[in-house]
Amino acid sequence: MSLFNICILKEVDSLDQKASAKNLEKWIEELDQFNQTPGNGTTRPVYTKEDMEARRYVRDLMSSVGLEVTEDNAGNLFGVLPGEDPSLDPVWTGSHIDTVPNGGKYDGIAGVFAGIEALRMIKESGAPHKRNLSVNVYSGEEMSRFGVCCIGSRAISGRLHLEDLKAHSEPSGKSLYEALKDAGYQPDSFDQEFPCKTPVYASLELHIEQNDVLEKAELPVGIVTGICAPTNLVVEVFGVQSHAGGTSMTARRDAYMAAAEISLLLERLALESDSMYITGTVGEMALEPNAANVIPGHVTFSVDIRSVALEDKDALLEKFFSGIKEIEERRKVRVTTEMMNHDKAVICDKHIVELAREVATDLDIPVMDIVSGPYHDSLMLGDITNVGMIFVPSKDGISHNKAEWTSIEDIARGTDILANTLLKLANEA
Ligand code: GLV
Ligand code: MN
Ligand code: MN
Repeated sequence: MSLFNICILKEVDSLDQKASAKNLEKWIEELDQFNQTPGNGTTRPVYTKEDMEARRYVRDLMSSVGLEVTEDNAGNLFGVLPGEDPSLDPVWTGSHIDTVPNGGKYDGIAGVFAGIEALRMIKESGAPHKRNLSVNVYSGEEMSRFGVCCIGSRAISGRLHLEDLKAHSEPSGKSLYEALKDAGYQPDSFDQEFPCKTPVYASLELHIEQNDVLEKAELPVGIVTGICAPTNLVVEVFGVQSHAGGTSMTARRDAYMAAAEISLLLERLALESDSMYITGTVGEMALEPNAANVIPGHVTFSVDIRSVALEDKDALLEKFFSGIKEIEERRKVRVTTEMMNHDKAVICDKHIVELAREVATDLDIPVMDIVSGPYHDSLMLGDITNVGMIFVPSKDGISHNKAEWTSIEDIARGTDILANTLLKLANEA
């Protein structure tokens, strides 16, 4: 190939403009007005009034940069930039805009706006691309409202059905099915609509790192090679409710003390595991009757186990269940466990990883390979297409916390890699 040809190829395949940090900052700040807890972090649970208002904001923004917007019955939003040959399978990017209670304003949100900015750059630069590009907002990535994560992307991948919508409820008792109806969607058509019928060529999501690996390495961007997956359980302990002063220490059948011992068992097993990426968390616990002078008779709590290898989670779970049995017998309580999801980790597509690394080199942005401990919508999308992810640093590794912070300049650098990699993917035959 002559030098001339190489130059032509490079022109077609790379962008002449850089991501606007100003756009990214403005959009992130403006979205934060849709928040149940202003002044105390960002709280925007999926399908609430704040979430629906935030979707309207993103929809309008997508339209204003010239994208064609559609929505499905899980509430997933798609902002499409048509390519030269719309019959080819599209290239996707995007993330989520719901948050955990009192969380940050970057988790998920950075990836949605990076995607919109990337498509804006591609459109305005006039760079030709064969495939359609779509920036998507996936509904309810956080599991905090309904106990199930990645509602939108799980539906797209065919892992969430009408019967599941009726089975998952928030603590008030409202089911996911009812919440979808209240938000104006038609959950009854779920099993006809999902899994998504459009074959997808590739998906590339930008997200904040939520750990301090990049910060410690003093690098602005990470190229993700694998995404750990969650297993979530609801554990219930049934003991005997009785008087705190009147029941001797040996006679009591304390549901909370059993729950505490099960929690510590989980921590010990995760610490003892050989797997570098395994974690075990109890993040939610409800005591009944929840009174200072009453021994709890019933405790319900959540268990969250992550790893990059399903076998490691299975090995931990085997020991966990046999430990629970021993605690149950010794403490004379009854324990039930319900598995809400047992997801398999995803290895990112080698070609997308390689392409993103090459783009970073061309743009002079130093990067490193990185594994994601948190799950992401890309985990679900791995069922239907080849996926990749781009990470930008989280200050002090903090996330799911109002102190979550990522520099806009780093999000802009990640967006430059995102935009140029999307463009290359969209021009592949
Ligand atoms: C996503 O927010 C996770 O909990 O990994
Ligand atoms: Mn999150
Ligand atoms: Mn997230």
